[in-house]
Amino acid sequence: MMSRERRRKRSEDLQRDLPRLSWGDVPHSVAPYVPTPHNVVDTMLTLTHANSDDVVYDLGCGDGRILLAAVEDFGAKKAVGYDLNPKMCGMVRLKVHEKGLRDRIEVVNGNFFLADLSGASVVTLYLTTSGNSKLRPKLEEELAPGSRVVSHDFPIHGWTTVKKEPPEHYVVGSHKIYVYSIPEAYDQKSSILRSKEEDGRWRRIRDLFVRERRERP
Ligand SMILES: C[S@@+](CC[C@H](N)C(=O)[O-])C[C@H]1O[C@@H](n2cnc3c(N)ncnc32)[C@H](O)[C@@H]1O
Repeated sequence: MMSRERRRKRSEDLQRDLPRLSWGDVPHSVAPYVPTPHNVVDTMLTLTHANSDDVVYDLGCGDGRILLAAVEDFGAKKAVGYDLNPKMCGMVRLKVHEKGLRDRIEVVNGNFFLADLSGASVVTLYLTTSGNSKLRPKLEEELAPGSRVVSHDFPIHGWTTVKKEPPEHYVVGSHKIYVYSIPEAYDQKSSILRSKEEDGRWRRIRDLFVRERRERP
Protein backbone atom coordinates (compact mmCIF):
# COMPACT_ATOMS: atom_id res chain seq x y z
CA MET A 1 0.00 0.00 0.00
CA MET A 2 1.47 3.36 -1.02
CA SER A 3 1.64 5.95 1.74
CA ARG A 4 -0.07 9.30 1.31
CA GLU A 5 3.30 11.07 1.19
CA ARG A 6 4.64 8.71 -1.48
CA ARG A 7 1.47 9.15 -3.51
CA ARG A 8 1.77 12.94 -3.30
CA LYS A 9 5.42 12.75 -4.34
CA ARG A 10 4.59 10.43 -7.23
CA SER A 11 1.80 12.75 -8.35
CA GLU A 12 4.20 15.71 -8.29
CA ASP A 13 6.81 13.75 -10.27
CA LEU A 14 4.23 12.78 -12.86
CA GLN A 15 2.94 16.33 -13.16
CA ARG A 16 6.46 17.72 -13.51
CA ASP A 17 7.42 15.57 -16.48
CA LEU A 18 3.97 15.60 -17.96
CA PRO A 19 3.85 14.66 -21.59
CA ARG A 20 5.95 16.87 -23.65
CA LEU A 21 5.80 14.22 -26.33
CA SER A 22 4.63 15.80 -29.52
CA TRP A 23 1.99 14.33 -31.73
CA GLY A 24 4.38 12.91 -34.30
CA ASP A 25 6.56 11.17 -31.69
CA VAL A 26 3.91 8.64 -30.83
CA PRO A 27 3.02 5.96 -33.33
CA HIS A 28 -0.75 5.54 -33.85
CA SER A 29 -1.53 8.96 -32.35
CA VAL A 30 -4.32 10.79 -34.16
CA ALA A 31 -4.42 13.82 -31.86
CA PRO A 32 -2.19 15.84 -29.52
CA TYR A 33 -3.15 16.33 -25.88
CA VAL A 34 -5.49 19.28 -25.37
CA PRO A 35 -8.03 19.08 -22.55
CA THR A 36 -11.75 19.71 -23.07
CA PRO A 37 -12.90 22.54 -20.75
CA HIS A 38 -15.03 21.23 -17.86
CA ASN A 39 -18.19 23.08 -18.96
CA VAL A 40 -17.87 21.50 -22.41
CA VAL A 41 -17.41 18.04 -20.83
CA ASP A 42 -20.59 18.65 -18.87
CA THR A 43 -22.55 19.62 -21.99
CA MET A 44 -21.16 16.66 -23.98
CA LEU A 45 -22.35 14.20 -21.34
CA THR A 46 -25.69 16.01 -20.90
CA LEU A 47 -26.36 15.87 -24.64
CA THR A 48 -25.74 12.12 -24.73
CA HIS A 49 -28.11 11.69 -21.74
CA ALA A 50 -25.36 9.80 -19.91
CA ASN A 51 -26.84 7.98 -16.91
CA SER A 52 -26.41 5.09 -14.51
CA ASP A 53 -27.03 2.48 -17.24
CA ASP A 54 -24.12 3.75 -19.29
CA VAL A 55 -20.61 2.56 -19.89
CA VAL A 56 -18.70 5.60 -21.15
CA TYR A 57 -15.54 5.19 -23.25
CA ASP A 58 -13.27 8.20 -23.73
CA LEU A 59 -10.98 7.43 -26.66
CA GLY A 60 -7.86 9.42 -25.89
CA CYS A 61 -8.72 10.14 -22.25
CA GLY A 62 -5.91 12.63 -21.47
CA ASP A 63 -6.13 13.67 -17.81
CA GLY A 64 -9.27 11.60 -17.27
CA ARG A 65 -11.67 14.50 -16.74
CA ILE A 66 -14.39 12.95 -18.92
CA LEU A 67 -14.10 9.60 -17.12
CA LEU A 68 -14.40 11.28 -13.72
CA ALA A 69 -17.31 13.51 -14.76
CA ALA A 70 -19.15 10.52 -16.27
CA VAL A 71 -18.94 8.55 -13.03
CA GLU A 72 -19.02 11.29 -10.39
CA ASP A 73 -21.45 13.78 -11.96
CA PHE A 74 -23.60 11.60 -14.23
CA GLY A 75 -23.51 8.36 -12.21
CA ALA A 76 -22.33 6.25 -15.15
CA LYS A 77 -22.01 2.57 -14.25
CA LYS A 78 -18.49 2.47 -15.62
CA ALA A 79 -16.02 4.59 -17.54
CA VAL A 80 -13.11 3.32 -19.60
CA GLY A 81 -10.34 5.51 -20.98
CA TYR A 82 -7.61 4.76 -23.48
CA ASP A 83 -4.54 6.88 -23.95
CA LEU A 84 -1.15 6.31 -25.54
CA ASN A 85 0.63 8.45 -23.01
CA PRO A 86 1.88 6.32 -20.07
CA LYS A 87 2.48 9.28 -17.76
CA MET A 88 -0.96 10.68 -18.35
CA CYS A 89 -2.47 7.24 -17.68
CA GLY A 90 -0.42 6.93 -14.48
CA MET A 91 -1.72 10.27 -13.28
CA VAL A 92 -5.32 9.36 -14.01
CA ARG A 93 -4.96 6.00 -12.23
CA LEU A 94 -3.61 7.79 -9.19
CA LYS A 95 -6.58 10.17 -9.13
CA VAL A 96 -8.98 7.27 -9.57
CA HIS A 97 -7.29 5.42 -6.72
CA GLU A 98 -7.42 8.45 -4.43
CA LYS A 99 -11.11 8.91 -5.11
CA GLY A 100 -11.81 5.23 -4.44
CA LEU A 101 -13.22 4.70 -7.94
CA ARG A 102 -11.04 1.83 -9.11
CA ASP A 103 -14.01 -0.48 -9.51
CA ARG A 104 -15.76 1.98 -11.84
CA ILE A 105 -12.99 3.64 -13.84
CA GLU A 106 -10.55 1.69 -15.98
CA VAL A 107 -7.60 3.33 -17.68
CA VAL A 108 -5.83 1.51 -20.47
CA ASN A 109 -2.46 2.73 -21.63
CA GLY A 110 -2.83 1.69 -25.22
CA ASN A 111 -4.01 2.36 -28.72
CA PHE A 112 -7.79 2.71 -28.90
CA PHE A 113 -7.79 1.38 -32.45
CA LEU A 114 -7.12 -2.01 -30.80
CA ALA A 115 -9.85 -1.66 -28.15
CA ASP A 116 -13.01 -3.71 -28.10
CA LEU A 117 -15.76 -1.10 -28.14
CA SER A 118 -18.69 -3.50 -28.00
CA GLY A 119 -19.23 -2.79 -24.28
CA ALA A 120 -19.54 0.98 -24.71
CA SER A 121 -22.89 2.76 -24.68
CA VAL A 122 -21.45 6.30 -24.85
CA VAL A 123 -18.22 7.17 -26.69
CA THR A 124 -16.59 10.56 -26.23
CA LEU A 125 -14.01 11.96 -28.65
CA TYR A 126 -11.75 14.96 -28.89
CA LEU A 127 -9.42 14.02 -31.70
CA THR A 128 -9.21 15.45 -35.23
CA THR A 129 -11.39 15.13 -38.31
CA SER A 130 -8.94 12.68 -39.89
CA GLY A 131 -8.71 10.71 -36.62
CA ASN A 132 -12.51 10.48 -36.52
CA SER A 133 -12.56 9.27 -40.13
CA LYS A 134 -10.08 6.51 -39.29
CA LEU A 135 -12.17 5.51 -36.31
CA ARG A 136 -15.53 5.59 -38.09
CA PRO A 137 -15.50 2.04 -39.54
CA LYS A 138 -14.60 0.65 -36.11
CA LEU A 139 -17.44 2.55 -34.44
CA GLU A 140 -19.89 1.29 -37.09
CA GLU A 141 -18.65 -2.27 -36.68
CA GLU A 142 -18.52 -2.50 -32.89
CA LEU A 143 -21.01 -0.15 -31.22
CA ALA A 144 -24.36 -1.61 -30.23
CA PRO A 145 -27.64 0.01 -31.35
CA GLY A 146 -28.70 2.70 -28.89
CA SER A 147 -25.13 3.85 -28.28
CA ARG A 148 -24.29 7.52 -28.57
CA VAL A 149 -21.11 9.14 -29.83
CA VAL A 150 -20.17 12.71 -28.97
CA SER A 151 -17.27 14.55 -30.53
CA HIS A 152 -15.78 17.82 -29.37
CA ASP A 153 -15.03 20.28 -32.20
CA PHE A 154 -14.58 17.70 -34.98
CA PRO A 155 -17.41 16.05 -36.94
CA ILE A 156 -17.44 12.48 -38.11
CA HIS A 157 -17.63 12.94 -41.87
CA GLY A 158 -20.31 10.87 -43.54
CA TRP A 159 -22.43 10.61 -40.39
CA THR A 160 -25.58 12.59 -39.57
CA THR A 161 -25.93 14.23 -36.17
CA VAL A 162 -29.04 13.91 -34.01
CA LYS A 163 -29.57 17.68 -34.32
CA LYS A 164 -32.04 18.07 -37.17
CA GLU A 165 -32.05 21.85 -37.62
CA PRO A 166 -28.87 23.58 -38.87
CA PRO A 167 -26.19 23.93 -37.77
CA GLU A 168 -25.59 20.24 -37.23
CA HIS A 169 -23.64 20.86 -34.02
CA TYR A 170 -24.33 22.38 -30.61
CA VAL A 171 -22.29 25.36 -29.49
CA VAL A 172 -20.70 26.13 -26.13
CA GLY A 173 -18.77 29.41 -26.39
CA SER A 174 -16.25 28.79 -29.16
CA HIS A 175 -16.61 25.00 -28.93
CA LYS A 176 -18.68 22.77 -31.18
CA ILE A 177 -20.27 19.54 -30.06
CA TYR A 178 -21.40 16.85 -32.51
CA VAL A 179 -23.79 14.22 -31.17
CA TYR A 180 -24.57 10.99 -33.00
CA SER A 181 -26.89 8.11 -32.32
CA ILE A 182 -26.14 4.53 -33.40
CA PRO A 183 -27.15 3.32 -35.98
CA GLU A 184 -29.16 6.36 -37.18
CA ALA A 185 -25.95 8.35 -37.73
CA TYR A 186 -25.04 6.23 -40.74
CA ASP A 187 -28.18 4.22 -41.45
CA GLN A 188 -30.50 6.78 -43.04
CA LYS A 189 -33.41 4.36 -43.38
CA SER A 190 -33.58 3.67 -39.67
CA SER A 191 -33.13 7.39 -39.06
CA ILE A 192 -36.23 8.13 -41.13
CA LEU A 193 -38.27 5.42 -39.45
CA ARG A 194 -37.19 6.36 -35.93
CA SER A 195 -39.19 9.53 -35.46
CA LYS A 196 -42.96 9.15 -35.69
CA GLU A 197 -43.31 12.46 -37.46
CA GLU A 198 -40.74 11.47 -40.03
CA ASP A 199 -42.25 8.01 -40.28
CA GLY A 200 -45.55 9.66 -41.32
CA ARG A 201 -43.78 11.86 -43.84
CA TRP A 202 -41.96 8.85 -45.27
CA ARG A 203 -45.21 6.91 -45.56
CA ARG A 204 -46.86 9.81 -47.44
CA ILE A 205 -43.96 9.98 -49.90
CA ARG A 206 -44.11 6.21 -50.38
CA ASP A 207 -47.91 6.33 -50.94
CA LEU A 208 -47.54 9.09 -53.52
CA PHE A 209 -44.87 7.06 -55.25
CA VAL A 210 -47.02 3.90 -55.28
CA ARG A 211 -50.10 5.83 -56.51
CA GLU A 212 -48.08 7.49 -59.23
CA ARG A 213 -46.85 4.08 -60.44
CA ARG A 214 -50.37 2.61 -60.32
CA GLU A 215 -51.83 5.47 -62.33
CA ARG A 216 -49.12 5.31 -64.95
CA PRO A 217 -50.58 4.16 -68.31
C1 LIG B 1 -7.27 16.30 -27.56
S1 LIG B 1 -6.78 15.11 -26.32
C2 LIG B 1 -8.35 14.79 -25.52
C3 LIG B 1 -8.22 14.46 -24.06
C4 LIG B 1 -9.56 14.23 -23.35
N1 LIG B 1 -10.37 13.29 -24.06
C5 LIG B 1 -10.33 15.51 -23.20
O1 LIG B 1 -11.26 15.72 -23.99
O2 LIG B 1 -9.99 16.31 -22.29
C6 LIG B 1 -6.52 13.66 -27.33
C7 LIG B 1 -5.85 12.52 -26.61
O3 LIG B 1 -5.92 11.37 -27.46
C8 LIG B 1 -4.76 10.58 -27.25
N2 LIG B 1 -4.61 9.70 -28.42
C9 LIG B 1 -4.40 10.06 -29.71
N3 LIG B 1 -4.38 8.98 -30.51
C10 LIG B 1 -4.58 7.90 -29.71
C11 LIG B 1 -4.68 6.50 -29.94
N4 LIG B 1 -4.56 5.98 -31.17
N5 LIG B 1 -4.90 5.68 -28.88
C12 LIG B 1 -5.03 6.18 -27.62
N6 LIG B 1 -4.95 7.51 -27.34
C13 LIG B 1 -4.73 8.36 -28.37
C14 LIG B 1 -3.65 11.60 -27.08
O4 LIG B 1 -2.56 11.05 -26.38
C15 LIG B 1 -4.38 12.71 -26.29
O5 LIG B 1 -4.19 12.58 -24.90
